[in-house]
This record gives sequence, structure tokens and C-alpha cells, in this order.
Amino acid sequence: MHNFVVFCFLSAALLVCVKGAFPPPCDSEIYCSGPILHQVQEAKLFDDDKFFVDMKLRETPDVVLSAFRNLSQEHPNATVPPGKLQEFLSLYFEAPGTEFESWTPPDWHDKPKFLEGIADQELRNWAEKIHHLWKSLGRKIRASVKDHPELYSQIYTPHPVVVPGGRFRELYYWDSYWVINGLLLSEMTDTAYGMIQNFLYLVNRYGFVPNGGRIYYERRSQPPFLTLMVESYYQATKDKDFLRSALPGLEQEYRFWMQNRSVAVRLNETLHVLNRYDVQVGLPRPESYTDDLELAEGLTDDRKEQLWMDLKAGAESGWDFTSRWYIDGDGHNNGTLRDTRTSQILPADLNALLCLSEKTLASFHRILGDGDSAARYDQAAARRLQAIESVLWDAERGAWFDYNLVTQSKHFEFYPSNLAPVWAQCYSRPEMGEKAVQYLKKSGALQFPNGVPTSLTDSGQQWDYPNAWPPLQHMLISGLSKLPSEDAKQLALDLAQRWIRTNWLAYGKYEAMFEKYDVNGDGKPGGGGEYEVQLGFGWTNGVALQLLDQYGATLTSGSGHLSTGLLLPLVISATLMLQ
Ligand SMILES: *[C@@H]1O[C@H](CO)[C@@H](O)[C@H](O)[C@H]1NC(C)=O
Ligand SMILES: *[C@@H]1O[C@H](CO)[C@@H](O)[C@H](O)[C@H]1NC(C)=O
Ligand SMILES: *[C@@H]1O[C@H](CO)[C@@H](O)[C@H](O)[C@H]1NC(C)=O
Ligand SMILES: *[C@@H]1O[C@H](CO)[C@@H](O)[C@H](O)[C@H]1NC(C)=O
Ligand SMILES: *[C@@H]1O[C@H](CO)[C@@H](O)[C@H](O)[C@H]1NC(C)=O
Repeated sequence: MHNFVVFCFLSAALLVCVKGAFPPPCDSEIYCSGPILHQVQEAKLFDDDKFFVDMKLRETPDVVLSAFRNLSQEHPNATVPPGKLQEFLSLYFEAPGTEFESWTPPDWHDKPKFLEGIADQELRNWAEKIHHLWKSLGRKIRASVKDHPELYSQIYTPHPVVVPGGRFRELYYWDSYWVINGLLLSEMTDTAYGMIQNFLYLVNRYGFVPNGGRIYYERRSQPPFLTLMVESYYQATKDKDFLRSALPGLEQEYRFWMQNRSVAVRLNETLHVLNRYDVQVGLPRPESYTDDLELAEGLTDDRKEQLWMDLKAGAESGWDFTSRWYIDGDGHNNGTLRDTRTSQILPADLNALLCLSEKTLASFHRILGDGDSAARYDQAAARRLQAIESVLWDAERGAWFDYNLVTQSKHFEFYPSNLAPVWAQCYSRPEMGEKAVQYLKKSGALQFPNGVPTSLTDSGQQWDYPNAWPPLQHMLISGLSKLPSEDAKQLALDLAQRWIRTNWLAYGKYEAMFEKYDVNGDGKPGGGGEYEVQLGFGWTNGVALQLLDQYGATLTSGSGHLSTGLLLPLVISATLMLQ
């Protein structure tokens, strides 16, 4: 079934060949495999490996490849020295970013209504500034990308987008869910519509939604939030025609996850089907090429391929990277980045998301009058619920845990994802939700002033302690707020207050929204991982606006003024009193 392909590249004057039963990350011999990618990245001409693969070609790929072959022949071992590589790049490539025009969303307008619901004047002014940020994050792809796709790594999409910001110069998949929710609050329905249409266009082209709008992402996805994006849009507009036109694409994406990303697990004589992240592409990520090569140094060819596949699966999970995906030699959830084995883990949050998607797809069919199709998705959701409760739920600890396919046991470390079924409302007995609240309280994850950390392990990776991420705060808060008990609702409010104060304090100091924050300190961005913390920032803005909307009557900035160092001790003690 697989084509065995041998990929060769020159590594420090050694010809390295990798036998792969996989395709490369994409078919481009410039952006995704081949000697140009290898030599340019290995020469480390730029700080970030993403820079080169975002450059535009000045000539067609054939000409560029032929020119490089000619250049290679002039040098021993076909290794072009860095100075000559630089010259080659300036002849045949342009700096990144030329495929976009800035674009001010035409549906942006002052003073969307939700601002009126924010009682605290300081917070309301700040929410207005966040609302203004949409104008600076809008991008439109130039027509030349459509006319000459072979010159770009950018994937053409027909509608303008709101990008995350910073190094993320293109659309991203799961980020866009929170961006779209924010846009809908900002009454930018047309922009939200266009973004969803782009994702449907991508499903039509690839059969699923790629991780982001670059060809080097085209063989991996991200947490599948498209159905929930359509749900958000439908709730805001009640547009049934839109629902009808979107539904085939949503079902196609669902089939992809069930055909290409599912596994059957036998437990107590019952076969359960659950999903995982899994990318069968055993080469370095083009955009993090040297990181992946260096990480794999000294491994056998088979282990290298496995590691590169699991790093891509880690990227597909959206949590790139984290100790959550480590499995060490003993099969434990322990080790280093080299022990990343994402595809061997059934994640609680992915399965909760798919359960919610199944219920949502059933509701779409019901709205459109197709009872038979609705029943099929209801059955799929019921089967998944049973699988989640048999494989992931732990009655003793009172939460849902990732399942390790190697040891056939659960990982009991704390992650906010252990409560994802609460957010998705995918559990059968009400007491499970309340047990999960008790689990959270005893987990040790609530002791930090600025939010809930991604784990309690300080691995140096960005999806670990001490970083707190907007989507995870939002899923946790939103889940707790839907539980019936006062206790859970109060906890949701406390966490919303902590998160808003963190965002607000950091904004006061840096005049910026960040992609992630540190759970300690007095409002500072997060760190760790492969690149510097990024400003912008799409999902951060979306989550802040959603919390300011949901809790606008009660949230406070905790200080009368912005950015006065003297007031910080007051703010911190107020935060501590909340706990
Ligand atoms: C590479 O060399 C061949 C043979 O000399 C030549 O025909 C071709 O035009 C060269 N390619 C480029 C892009 O310069
Ligand atoms: C070329 O490759 C050979 C064998 O791999 C090696 O011994 C030699 O040092 C290399 N020369 C250069 C200039 O890198
Ligand atoms: C999904 O799996 C099917 C069947 O195994 C295969 O033909 C298809 O290429 C896969 N799709 C992707 C996008 O990997
Ligand atoms: C995890 O690995 C570290 C270092 O390799 C070791 O010190 C520690 O005991 C391990 N923990 C578990 C639970 O195996
Ligand atoms: C599996 O069966 C064992 C023994 O019959 C039982 O103790 C256990 O609770 C069952 N596990 C699940 C997940 O149903």
C-alpha cells in the first residue's frame, strides 16, 4: 500500500538517506524536502527556520532547482558555502510577507453593543482597545498567490483572514475558533463568515483542514474546531442557508478524523473507537527543520522517522510541545522532548471535542429537518460517550485522563484537558461534573495567581508549567460555568477574574496582548519552546472579549489606574484573597 521512498540529504558532508513509507510534508522540492531546504536551514542564515520557508520565489521552481544544481556542482560534495547560499537566496527569493496586503475589515465599527455590558470603566476602555486590534490583524492574500501558487508556500484562500500575529503570518486552524467568537462579539459577522468559508474551501481541497495556511502544513491538521465555528456563527445569525451549505464540508472533515485518526481499543471484551493525533510524515518539519534534525541526532533511522512523525502529531494536537506527549522507555509519562510519542496517546480533549462535534452535527441535521442523519450522529456521540467513560474516566480520581496505548493505562498527571468532557458536556451522570470540580481543587493547579497552568511539570516546553494559554482557560471556565453547583460557578468566576487581571496587567506594562502568559508574577508573558513569545494575539483577544462579555457585570480591573507600579502590591493581595 505504501510507496517506499528514499529521501537523501547532505548533512555535515555526510549523505544521509532516510527510507520512508511516507510522503514528505508537501510535494514542493524547495519548501518541503530537497537540498535547498536542507542546506539553507543547516547554514542557519536566519534566526527562525520559518523565515526561509515563507520566502517567495522570484523564478519558477524548475529554474530555481536547476540554478541550485548548477551552483552545487561548483562546490566540493555539492555543499554550497553560506556566503554563496546568501547570494543564491537574494537572486531567487524574496523576503516573507509579500503575499499579503494589509486589510481593514470593512465590517469593523466603533462601539459594538457588548461593550455596554462591561461595568468596570477601565475594563470597558481596554475591551475597546482589544476590539481595535482586529483592524491590525486583518490580512488579504494578493491575487498573485492565486495566479502563481507555485511561487509561494502560502496556500491561497478566497477570503481575507484575521491572523494570530507575530511570526504567525497566515491563518491557523484552532486559533481561529476563538478569533471567530471574538469577531462575532465585535459584530464582524462578514469577517467571521469569510474565515469559515476559507476553512470549508480547504476541506474541499484537502479533505480536511490543514494546521495553517502554508503548504508545509498540508499533511497535518489541528484540533478540529470547524463544526464549532459554524455553530458559533449559526447562533449569532440563525442563517439556515449557511448551515445547509456548510454541512457537507463538516461531514467530510468528520470522516477524515474517523478514517485517518481513529484507533480501536479493546477493554473488558468491548471494542471502543477513540481518536488520536497521528501524522505519517517521517521527515523534519520544514519550518523547524534544524530543531528536528538536532533533536534526532544519534537515533537509528527508524527512531528518527518515528520521532519526526510524533513531533508533527504534537504540532497537530496544538500542544507543541509538552511533557504531556512524552512516553519514556518504561512506558511512563516522563522523559524529554526526544520521548515525544503523541500518536501513542488517546487525548481526553480531542475526544471530548469530537463528542461535542457529533452532538452538534446531529443538531444541524435536526435543524435542517433530516432526522435520520441526526440519529446517526446521536448514535456516534453515544458510542463515544461510552468509550470515553470506559477508557478515559477514572472514578477514583474523578476526572478523565489520556490513555497510553503502549502501557494500556492512563496518565494521571494534571492537565486542564483532564476536564475537557465538562466543557463538552460529554458525561452521562451529573455527579461526574461535580467530582471533576473536586479533582481540580485538589490538583494543585489552582494555587497560582494568574491562571491555570498547562501542567505542573516545568519542562521548558511552552505547553507546560508555568505557561497558561487562553484556549485552555476558556474551555475550563466555560465548562465550570455550565455546571449546576454554586461552587463550580464561583470557581469559574474566580478563574475568569484571575485571567482578565493577568491580561490587563500585562497590557498595562507592554501595551500588547500575548499568545500565552506566566501563571506567576504580576502580568507577564509566557516563555519556553522553540520561538520567542508572540504579540498580537488572535485567540488571546477572542478569549478576553468572551470573558468580558460573559462576566462583564462582575469583573474588575482591580486597580483604578493602568500601569502604576505602586498599585501592583494591592492588585496582588487582591488576587491572593480571591483564592
Ligand atoms: C544550469 O546549467 C545548464 C547547463 O549549463 C544550463 O542550461 C541552465 O540554464 C542552467 N540553469 C540556470 C537556472 O542557470
Ligand atoms: C567530502 O566528503 C568526503 C566523504 O564524505 C569527506 O571525507 C570530505 O572531507 C568532504 N569534503 C568537504 C570539503 O567537505
Ligand atoms: C486517509 O486515509 C485514506 C484511506 O486510508 C487515504 O486514502 C487518504 O489518503 C488519507 N487522507 C489523508 C489526508 O491522509
Ligand atoms: C522521570 O525521569 C526523571 C529523569 O529521567 C527521573 O529522575 C524521575 O524519577 C522519573 N519519574 C518517574 C515517575 O519515573
Ligand atoms: C473491567 O472489568 C473489571 C473486572 O470485571 C472491572 O473491575 C472493571 O471496573 C471494568 N472496567 C471498566 C472500565 O469497565
